[in-house]
Amino acid sequence: MAAKDTSTTRPSHVAIIMDGNGRWATQRGWPRLVGHRRGAERVKQIVRACPDLGVKYLTLYAFSTENWKRSTQEVLGLMALFSRYIEREADRLSAEGVRLRFIGDRRPLDGRLRGLMDGIEKRTAANTRLTLTVAINYGGRNELVRAARALAADAAAGRIAPDAVDEAALEGYLDTVGLPDPDLVIRTSGETRISNYLLWQSAYAEYEFIPTLWPDFTPAKLSEILDRFALRDRRFGALTA
Ligand code: IPE
Ligand code: IPE
Ligand code: MG
Repeated sequence: MAAKDTSTTRPSHVAIIMDGNGRWATQRGWPRLVGHRRGAERVKQIVRACPDLGVKYLTLYAFSTENWKRSTQEVLGLMALFSRYIEREADRLSAEGVRLRFIGDRRPLDGRLRGLMDGIEKRTAANTRLTLTVAINYGGRNELVRAARALAADAAAGRIAPDAVDEAALEGYLDTVGLPDPDLVIRTSGETRISNYLLWQSAYAEYEFIPTLWPDFTPAKLSEILDRFALRDRRFGALTA
C-alpha cells in the first residue's frame, strides 16, 4: 500500500480543552491567575501557527458552564482576561485574516464583555484564513437545551413540523451552526475527560490527551500531534478498503 499522503490527512478543525493553567501556577507558588495569563499568551502563539499547519478551524474551550463554581476572584480575573484579549488582539486578528466567533450562552456575561464579543465578531466576519471559535460560558448540555428550547418554540409557532426535525435541522439551532465538526479534540494537563465540551459535534472526533499543562503547550507540540493524527484510520463506521 502506498504511504499516506499526510497533506490530505491533516485535521481541518482542531478543538482544544486548554487545561492545567492553575496547576502550572501552583507548582511555581504563584496565584492561579498568573497561569491563566500565561495560558492566554499561548493562545496567541497557537492561533498564529494554525494556518501554516493546515488548520482552518480552531475551537478553544476558555470557560465552561461549570467554571462559575470557582472563586469570584478567579472568575472575574478570567472575564477580565477575555476582554483584554479581544481588545489587544483585535487589530492583529483582523490583519491576519482570522475570523473570531464565540459559542456558549452569553446572556449571563458582563455587558461590556458582550459588547466586545459582538463587535469583534462583526468586524472579522468576512475573514477566511482561520476561524477561531472561543467557548465562553459554554457547556455541551446547555447548548443542546437552548437548541431544544428554540426548536420547540418554532414547532409550537408552526414554523417547523416535528417530522422535519433531522440532524441537519437540529444543527441549525446549535451555537456552532456553520462550523464543520471537529476532526481532532486535544486536552492538555493529563485529564482524560471531555468536561461537557462539544458533545454533539465530537461524535466522530479523534482524541488526544496529553500530559503537558496548557501554559507549556507550543506550536511544535501541536505540530507533533497533527503528524500523529495523519496516521489514524478514521472509518466512520464503515470498513477500511
Ligand atoms: C484551564 O485551566 C482553564 C480554565 C478552566 C478556565 P484550569 O484553571 O482548569 O487549571 P487546573 O486544571 O486547575 O490546573
Ligand atoms: C474544562 O476544564 C474547561 C476549560 C478548559 C475551560 P476544567 O478544569 O474546568 O474541567 P474539570 O473540572 O477538570 O473537569
Ligand atoms: Mg482544570
